[in-house]
Amino acid sequence: MIHLQVIILVSGAHVTSDPQPPVLYEGSRLTLSCDVRAGSHLSYTWFHNRQEVTSLPTSPLNPRLLLGNTLIVENVTAEHAGNYYCIARTMLMDRRFSSSSEVNIKVKAHLSVPQISFTISKEGSSYRCNVTCRSSRGTPPVTFRLLLDNVEVGSEVSGESLVAWFPVPVVPGQDMGVLLCRVENDAQLLTSEPLTLEVVPVGGSVTVDIEYLYRFDSKMSAARLQCHLSFGTFPSFSWSLNGSLLFGCCEGSTSHALADAGRTLLLAEITPENSGYYRCRTKDSYDNASAWVESEPVLVQITEVTMATIEVIAIVFCCFLMLTLAGGVACVTRMLRNPRECVQSSQQPEERRFSDNFCIIRPPLPLSEVTSGTALKRLDSCSADNDVSCVDSDLQNQTLEITI
Ligand SMILES: *[C@@H]1O[C@H](CO)[C@@H](O)[C@H](O)[C@H]1NC(C)=O
Ligand SMILES: *[C@@H]1O[C@H](CO)[C@@H](O)[C@H](O)[C@H]1NC(C)=O
Ligand SMILES: *[C@@H]1O[C@H](CO)[C@@H](O)[C@H](O)[C@H]1NC(C)=O
Ligand SMILES: *[C@@H]1O[C@H](CO)[C@@H](O)[C@H](O)[C@H]1NC(C)=O
Repeated sequence: MIHLQVIILVSGAHVTSDPQPPVLYEGSRLTLSCDVRAGSHLSYTWFHNRQEVTSLPTSPLNPRLLLGNTLIVENVTAEHAGNYYCIARTMLMDRRFSSSSEVNIKVKAHLSVPQISFTISKEGSSYRCNVTCRSSRGTPPVTFRLLLDNVEVGSEVSGESLVAWFPVPVVPGQDMGVLLCRVENDAQLLTSEPLTLEVVPVGGSVTVDIEYLYRFDSKMSAARLQCHLSFGTFPSFSWSLNGSLLFGCCEGSTSHALADAGRTLLLAEITPENSGYYRCRTKDSYDNASAWVESEPVLVQITEVTMATIEVIAIVFCCFLMLTLAGGVACVTRMLRNPRECVQSSQQPEERRFSDNFCIIRPPLPLSEVTSGTALKRLDSCSADNDVSCVDSDLQNQTLEITI
């Protein structure tokens, strides 16, 4: 018997995409088919950005499925975007093949919830806010809308970027309503958090906090001055030393640096040249005619006293920690030898916390309590109930001498 097989030579390969047009959102399904005008006994090879799509598990296109003449991606991500083409081959005559032209697949990112913020500027005698709506993710084009008390006051199609600006007139010191920003595309509509459109002028009192920073050897090395004001939405700050403004502060300066938009002044080193009385001044940044509000002067200088205090605190704290530990060890040792005796010795009820069979080792006190002298009082009471021998009394006297 003669078995005849008819082989039709391949021709006219082309890619058909579902969806069509080939634009789809992340997470959706993409199906590409390699169709031919004519041909039988065909095998197919796919190319993505000119690279063959292999069935290796390391292939960048995973997860996806090659099935007959189709390539299916169940969950499209940005990496799946790009140019695809296929080659159909007649299996029995390896030389014959037909190659499709390229199809460009676009994958659109989902939008993220827009963020809303505003700045203010003065124009003549009136004020205007520049409201920014911004999404961090998504594929343009998108439409931004601005709502003030749920009334649309502006809309803008953003073809290139994911940001839009809207001018809104304001009166400082007045609550102008609640702003919302909305962003939408053909698949999503997202709304920002509400933002009250209110510009509070700088006012109330201005104070300066100083924080000294110490080196490892507890020598004072730097200071951080922070300016606090009672209220004000858009303050600008400047600093003065002994009454003269620190102009052009602090580019190129090794001793001063500004941080936090001028709110914080850092002294990298405290020297006689930068010691003195510092003041912080603040006013509305958007209005160069507004009045400055100034803080009381604060003195920045190297103080031996402060150093000594820190050292004493450190010593007291260490001693206390050691005593507590020593007391604990003594107590536990004693308890192991004679549990009853130990428990009976602690007369104060607050000393017994968990059960009658345990002695309490007090945790070290916070530093504030140590400095306020409570620690020393507690040491007295600790040695008073002298059954729990916490202290060698010489050591305790030493501690007391240092603080006095
Ligand atoms: C699709 O892929 C994204 C990103 O890798 C993943 O977070 C998501 O869970 C996947 N969805 C499904 C249905 O597999
Ligand atoms: C708002 O601010 C942005 C960014 O600074 C700027 O590009 C835009 O021109 C401003 N719009 C108005 C109306 O001032
Ligand atoms: C600022 O004044 C104080 C006190 O009068 C003085 O000790 C200090 O040296 C002055 N600082 C500067 C930089 O002039
Ligand atoms: C305030 O700024 C405007 C514009 O920058 C300027 O023309 C004006 O002279 C400034 N006024 C003062 C008091 O500095």
